[in-house]
Amino acid sequence: MSERIPEETINKILSSTDIVDVVSDYVQLKKQGRNYFGLCPFHGENTPSFSVAPDKQIFHCFGCGAGGNAFTFLMDVDGLSFVEAARKLGSKIGEEISVPTASGEQEAPPREDEKQMLQAHELLSKFYHHLLLNTKEGQEALEYLLSRGFTTESISKFQIGWSLPSWDFTVKFLQKRGYSLDLMEAAGLLVRREKDQSFLDRFRGRIMFPITNPKGKVVGFSGRSLHSDDEPKYLNSPETKIFNKSRILYNFHESRTIIRRKQQVILFEGFADVISANGASVENGVATMGTSLTEGQIGLIKRLTDSVVICYDGDSAGVEAAFRAGNLLLKHQLSIRVAMIPERLDPDDYISKYGKEKFQQDVIGASLTFMAFKLRYYKLNKNLNDEGDRLQYIEDILKEIIHLTNAVEKDYYLRYLAEEFDVSLEALQQQLAEIGGALKENSKPVKKAPAPKPYRPHVQTKLLPAYQTAERRLIAYMLKDPNIAFKVQDWLDGTHLNIDEHQAIITYLFGYYEEGMPPGTSSFIGFLPDERLRRIVTEIEMMSISDECSDQELLDYVQSVLKHQKMLKIKEKESERKEAQRQNDYRKEAQIAMEILQLRKSL
Ligand code: CTP
Ligand code: MN
Repeated sequence: MSERIPEETINKILSSTDIVDVVSDYVQLKKQGRNYFGLCPFHGENTPSFSVAPDKQIFHCFGCGAGGNAFTFLMDVDGLSFVEAARKLGSKIGEEISVPTASGEQEAPPREDEKQMLQAHELLSKFYHHLLLNTKEGQEALEYLLSRGFTTESISKFQIGWSLPSWDFTVKFLQKRGYSLDLMEAAGLLVRREKDQSFLDRFRGRIMFPITNPKGKVVGFSGRSLHSDDEPKYLNSPETKIFNKSRILYNFHESRTIIRRKQQVILFEGFADVISANGASVENGVATMGTSLTEGQIGLIKRLTDSVVICYDGDSAGVEAAFRAGNLLLKHQLSIRVAMIPERLDPDDYISKYGKEKFQQDVIGASLTFMAFKLRYYKLNKNLNDEGDRLQYIEDILKEIIHLTNAVEKDYYLRYLAEEFDVSLEALQQQLAEIGGALKENSKPVKKAPAPKPYRPHVQTKLLPAYQTAERRLIAYMLKDPNIAFKVQDWLDGTHLNIDEHQAIITYLFGYYEEGMPPGTSSFIGFLPDERLRRIVTEIEMMSISDECSDQELLDYVQSVLKHQKMLKIKEKESERKEAQRQNDYRKEAQIAMEILQLRKSL
């Protein structure tokens, strides 16, 4: 989220905006009690579970879990950036939002030259498309595409086009329409010849794939050669003021609604794959266009979902890239699966060879968890009949297991290794402990990445364990009143809430209050960088709590949080005790038993 707009301006916009008005432009709302209800714009539904709370100035969907304030609503529904949403809301209340350009060239209001660049792209993409579909000049390219399995439907849907094999067709086309050629060079559409400084078309005789930004505006092209001797295979627009490759995913804008509805995105390497998959009814696909996945692109994905299926080429470069992309996604707490393609094919080739159904079922439907993928990945380039390779493999996997936070998962993979390689579970556990020890010595205590939790829609009737409800109640009151927040902070005395997301929320909340911001969920939501946290906050806010809360009630909640942690500690000690018992270490066993007793007493 951008911090370039002054905080006061944002608050001014929020306090003069009524979220009911904003949402009403998109959703038909009916008042019911204190709140408004309507059909959720973020997932398909027939009975309204989407609600807007005017008193809190937030929205929340009980069906799919979407939630936020007026800003995030516009960002989500229209695919706007934060600054764009601010500008749109600002214009509704007659507030002109200007953004300091020093830090944010990207976010500055579209200036005249950028408008011209966008217009030229729009115009050209229509024209190239027309050339491909309706003219003799485009015929060969069209036949090539159809022979590859593209359909007229997919060609229209993706606005695929054809650029004429001429040196100056585009130059003249743009000149005739009054565009400055210098500007068109800066837009990447033309190049300038060294020797006489004259302008030439960048794209000549290529199949043109228009590339849109997250708002759906064409900002660049990728041109595929028609003949294999015409290098490079793909010629792309250069980085320009409007085209920043690292912040663009092919087909992102077009697929955003489906991605949100499915709560899943499929990540491909190339556009041919996205387009083929679309033809196979896999419509939630986006592509990185041949470069490795960037943090900017992950940010785009996180606006929509936490769940990614990587579907890269089946060759070794693709598998390596999937491994790297998966690790980066994991770092950003996304839940990952990997769909593997056999025979070193790419998804597009696979669909041509085996058809839609097999792609849906045997590739996408049979995707692996990231850990299961890693089990295969580490086997590549190893000969498991060789003892050295086998031991190396076991070590590779143990190093992965050690980062798993889910005890059952850990146990599952240890057993798998034990069985697969006929080694004892004890030996594996011992080696695991050694690896863990070595890791700790070599670095600061390893902070384990929290296990990615696939987002599951929150349903109204969900029954949570007591400690979770307690945490949510605490957060609800802390959101209302900074005094309560800081009181609870003292009582917790450094202890973290049990649910990672809850802890993240209160950490942001303390930061928010410490900056002197007034309580207000709608404004606090603007501080949360992460879709998942926003959803949880709005869900908590929709929970009805009484206005007043005694210290005793708050203390009870805090106790419930602390108690759960002690219970976990006891469980951990219990297994340590068992281990000591197994090793006939009576002194250790007795000592741990004492500790357990102490913990029990303090409950
Ligand atoms: N790419 C690129 N420049 C190249 C080659 C590839 O930008 N010279 C990008 C394109 O975005 C392409 C992606 O990398 O979609 C994947 O490359 P590749 O697998 O070679 O292309 P395919 O998608 O398989 O394209 P095709 O099936 O048309 O050969
Ligand atoms: Mn291909």
